[in-house]
Amino acid sequence: MQSTVLLLGLFAASIPAVPLDQQPLVADLSGDAQISSELLGASPNTLHGRFLHITDFHPDRYYKAGSAIDEGKRSCHHGKGPAGYFGQEGSECDSPITLVNETFRWIGENLKDQIDFVVWTGDSVRHDNDEHIPRTDDEIVEVNEFMSQKWLELFGKRKNPTGPGSIPRVSVPVIPTFGNNDITPHNIFRAGPNSWTRKFAEVWHHFIPEDQRHSFVEGGWFLSEVIPGKLVVISLNTMYFFESNSAVDGCNGKSQPGYEHMEWLRVQLQFLRSRGMKAILTGHVAPARSREKNNWDETCWQKYTLWTDRYRDVIVGGLYGHMNVDHFMLQDSHDVEIEGAEKTTSGPVTTMSKEDYLVSLRNQWSELPSPPSGVFEDLTTMDESTEVGPAKNGKKKGKKRRKYLKKIGGEWAERYSVSLVSPSVVPNFFPTLRVIEYNITGLENSVFEDQFNYLDTDDSSLLAMEEPSPETQKKKKNKHKKKPDFKIPDGPSRSAPPGPAYSNQPLTFLSWTQYFANLTQLNHTVGSEGEEPRIKYEIEYSTRDKGVCQMKDLTVRSFLELATRIGEDGAVSKDVESDPTVNKKQKVNEAWRTFLARAFTGFIDVDDLDVDMESPVQ
Ligand SMILES: *[C@@H]1O[C@H](CO)[C@@H](O)[C@H](O)[C@H]1NC(C)=O
Ligand SMILES: *[C@@H]1O[C@H](CO)[C@@H](O)[C@H](O)[C@H]1NC(C)=O
Ligand SMILES: *[C@@H]1O[C@H](CO)[C@@H](O)[C@H](O)[C@H]1NC(C)=O
Ligand SMILES: *[C@@H]1O[C@H](CO)[C@@H](O)[C@H](O)[C@H]1NC(C)=O
Repeated sequence: MQSTVLLLGLFAASIPAVPLDQQPLVADLSGDAQISSELLGASPNTLHGRFLHITDFHPDRYYKAGSAIDEGKRSCHHGKGPAGYFGQEGSECDSPITLVNETFRWIGENLKDQIDFVVWTGDSVRHDNDEHIPRTDDEIVEVNEFMSQKWLELFGKRKNPTGPGSIPRVSVPVIPTFGNNDITPHNIFRAGPNSWTRKFAEVWHHFIPEDQRHSFVEGGWFLSEVIPGKLVVISLNTMYFFESNSAVDGCNGKSQPGYEHMEWLRVQLQFLRSRGMKAILTGHVAPARSREKNNWDETCWQKYTLWTDRYRDVIVGGLYGHMNVDHFMLQDSHDVEIEGAEKTTSGPVTTMSKEDYLVSLRNQWSELPSPPSGVFEDLTTMDESTEVGPAKNGKKKGKKRRKYLKKIGGEWAERYSVSLVSPSVVPNFFPTLRVIEYNITGLENSVFEDQFNYLDTDDSSLLAMEEPSPETQKKKKNKHKKKPDFKIPDGPSRSAPPGPAYSNQPLTFLSWTQYFANLTQLNHTVGSEGEEPRIKYEIEYSTRDKGVCQMKDLTVRSFLELATRIGEDGAVSKDVESDPTVNKKQKVNEAWRTFLARAFTGFIDVDDLDVDMESPVQ
């Protein structure tokens, strides 16, 4: 309680005494960024309950519209062919600068004034594909500087005259993170401090809060307090978890940067809990883990899943990129075998097709506990009425229900946590971006910028809180789980209500809207003389859309429900398939079908995929 009061006090103190329109603007813009005139007179921004997640731009200065697209690794750089003006949809080509510029223009005209912050999850430069034009350190830094400049052009920046050190900031926080292509050679990221962490501390100067600079140079990780006293976004350096980074070795060895990173994360989460604050976790490489594909070193996945379970009262959700397909994944806390940190047999299967990966996810989901019919509806009604009324279902149903709830970790499904993967701007399919809506009940008048410096992470009182509870000690007795040589964090206190990832409350993710640009269509309009070509993003879908994949909110339970549905066998009787005369009522799992169509941003006709639409292959 005391800390809340303290934070409120600080919050009030940081509201400038000078009217905002008299605040001096930073004059020495390092680049060409123009400060938009409306910013000069801007009033304190109130929350909109929306933020942007955008990822994998892959801008390529060598992209040539009208070049060949069938030249393997030289495609879109060379020869003559149909390479599109805004990029070549459905190819391995990177993004032309025209696509990047137009995407920023579109955001400026359509989203800029409606979002509270931007989560920008890396890979902001081309791939290292074309051996005729190898990438250089300079190119990587220059292109990342260009990208940072684009955000500054969009959101301007100004000084916080009351904050310590008068830190210049963008008017909307932007939270970047390292992608595996934002370094040379790609994937290889050594322990910090190193030349990349130092360089990007400059490149992302405007996005990394001053008090986080040190931690960033140490390891490329930091956090940004996007709603003062309420919400931080934690930028993880997933390069230290990434299986393909051969310069490091997981998260168990004390000398490993992955170990240090997890320790840092644990301390942050503990600190946030003690202040009643919440956190969004973000990074580039998603913690994908299925029988066939592991993105992260198993020891890192283990700790991450343990942390997300223990801090389930603090973590709002996890947002990632890298994979370019739209999907989500569940982390199951029952898979944590701390110590069991032996590697699983499956390494990263880089040649695995995206379809095969999605099929393997579905296989996983087909093994989720099967819910008794109507259980999710019952849970929903229970949320809304305060009464816990078992009567109408009868005894037998009540028992089934209790059994199921026990399996999924109670009525909030706290056994699981969720990571969301947004598809990319680079048009492997169509370019896309995502706007996530979150609950701001009671926060409407919060200011969302310019104050972030009081999160002092050197708080030694923290150490006192890190002794494992009797509960965790007991859990560790399980004979498969050997005693770890690091601190197992406590879970939430018994009396703590479920966190925002589990029950709808302030900061809970409510829905997202996925936008896409139909490059096929746009390319036809390019060249119609006169006007500058314009890109247009349109709505691909919203998670609220009616139909099989409709989600009432984005709580873990809603994802569990959807994943369970996707994992089920398709409906309709057996013999229909082979009989061409039967009227097209095929045995199709529509939730799975929709999930696949969205995975490929609507670019691919899912009926053309060699994927079973009916039952998951075990
Ligand atoms: C895009 O438009 C250009 C010029 O109109 C054309 O040459 C090219 O074939 C088109 N590309 C595709 C993929 O349709
Ligand atoms: C992209 O925008 C930048 C300014 O942000 C401008 O300097 C550059 O010329 C533009 N490039 C293209 C290809 O439009
Ligand atoms: C936000 O959370 C509150 C509970 O704290 C709830 O009453 C409200 O309905 C939620 N808002 C939305 C839009 O779901
Ligand atoms: C994209 O545009 C093309 C050409 O107009 C059209 O055939 C296709 O259906 C569109 N795709 C989507 C997903 O809207």
